[in-house]
Amino acid sequence: MKARFTPSLITGNEMIDSHHKELIKRANDLFEALEGRQSKEKVLETLGFLADYTTYHFQAEEKLMEEAKYPKYEEHKGYHKALIEVVAGLQEKLEKEGPTEEFEKEVNDKVVDWLYTHIKGCDHEVAEYKNVRSQMDNML
Ligand SMILES: [Fe+2]
Ligand SMILES: [Fe+2]
Repeated sequence: MKARFTPSLITGNEMIDSHHKELIKRANDLFEALEGRQSKEKVLETLGFLADYTTYHFQAEEKLMEEAKYPKYEEHKGYHKALIEVVAGLQEKLEKEGPTEEFEKEVNDKVVDWLYTHIKGCDHEVAEYKNVRSQMDNML
């Protein structure tokens, strides 16, 4: 499987977009480890890199929302929290069962597809809000 950063994922916010590219890259590193039949330890490591960057990105995005006084901050933060829990569940599963095809499918469905949907909807909205807000600040 392969994750792709397509034009429809571009939000127009430079920081957010560069973080999303890195997330897609790390998801692909995980897919490569899985498809290259790497050891459980190696796969756990790549999943760990993805988990770490997910946390890092969510914190940065939440800070941006907070600073821009984004009205749907709490709701958006809740979605982030849900994904962090999903990733923690996958880490546990991998630890217990080792890398399987089912595991790879779960990463694709529960993480990568989730990211696509979240970025195209929620993150687009944040970038748009932030952009309008910055323009307004410049006018005042
Ligand atoms: Fe987000
Ligand atoms: Fe994001």
